[in-house]
Amino acid sequence: MIGKLNHVAIVVPDLQAAAALYRDSLGASVSAPLPLPEHGVTTVFVQLPNTKIELLHPLGDQSPIRKFLDANPAGGIHHLCYEVTDIRAARDRLQAAGARVLGDGEPSTGAHGKPVLFLHPKDFCGTLIELEQA
Ligand code: CO
Repeated sequence: MIGKLNHVAIVVPDLQAAAALYRDSLGASVSAPLPLPEHGVTTVFVQLPNTKIELLHPLGDQSPIRKFLDANPAGGIHHLCYEVTDIRAARDRLQAAGARVLGDGEPSTGAHGKPVLFLHPKDFCGTLIELEQA
């Protein structure tokens, strides 16, 4: 069922510094910062040959990653995103196996304009998992 690793999301305290680190020290191809007000984040996409890194910084007072940054002031890995071909079928299979889907269980539109769901970290080895319909 699980497909490619679509991205690793890292919350960072300073988006410009993190972008410069990936661009200048690691030699990666890095996008300009992209504000996504509906998601409460500003993101920089780092394109790697086999996947992406998303650098995330809180945007606005209601940002869903504000608490994470407060708890991890130096930044940290926030979630992994796996691709699936049918997100509702994946959800149904996971829920039948006892996994908890966050929110109301219905896919929302993610940062790439595709349907996404998040799975409870306590059900996945302490890691927040995003599923994206590829
Ligand atoms: Co993500």
